[in-house]
Amino acid sequence: MKGKFIAFEGCEGSGKSTQLKLLAEYLIGHGVDFILTREPGGSEISEQIRGIILNGKNTDMCDECEALLYAAARVQHLKQTVMPALEDGKLVICDRYIYSSLAYQGYARGLGVEFVESVNAYALEHCPADMTVFLDISPVDAFERKHGADENDRMEQQGLEFHKRVYAGYKALQATHPDICAVDCLGTKEQTAEKIINLLKERRVID
Ligand code: TYD
Repeated sequence: MKGKFIAFEGCEGSGKSTQLKLLAEYLIGHGVDFILTREPGGSEISEQIRGIILNGKNTDMCDECEALLYAAARVQHLKQTVMPALEDGKLVICDRYIYSSLAYQGYARGLGVEFVESVNAYALEHCPADMTVFLDISPVDAFERKHGADENDRMEQQGLEFHKRVYAGYKALQATHPDICAVDCLGTKEQTAEKIINLLKERRVID
């Protein structure tokens, strides 16, 4: 495919939304042809699936169902939004991708990497990200900065132990997957934004 596909990952409260907003402003200012999209979501059907996954009332959802719903939303998003944009030569910036499934469902839920990779076989085979930017901040530091979790969001309600397992999962993945580039984001949001832009320049994602 002609365009580049960059995923952003991180724990809850890592400042991902803020950084993606700052990056989008930079890309607009520099005339880059890009789309900013998100998972779960990024297409009409995937946004509907997002509503089911994150609904705080769905407390009965089993872990396997959760993993399959993320994977289902992902395939629809890839086919309807990501792949057409890449074919058009656009830069695609995605808020979360397969490493979220591996860290949250594989490690934190305990479903294992093999199971999560198997349900994501389509995405892994047909649309691997060119690079993943991991906003590296522990959930303890992140929650402190964010002042607590959103009580309407089923994933945010999971508690600190769950989010610590997510973080450990990301760190384990980082050790074995060189396409994951960690960005330390304990500094100011402007400092982190600059680190991200420099990283994308180094990797020749942007000029
Ligand atoms: P969102 O409100 O977008 O969270 P954030 O701003 O932290 O990205 O909700 C997405 C939630 O879904 C978040 O808790 C991470 C989780 N998630 C998974 O557990 N597995 C996945 O594959 C993806 C894409 C997200």
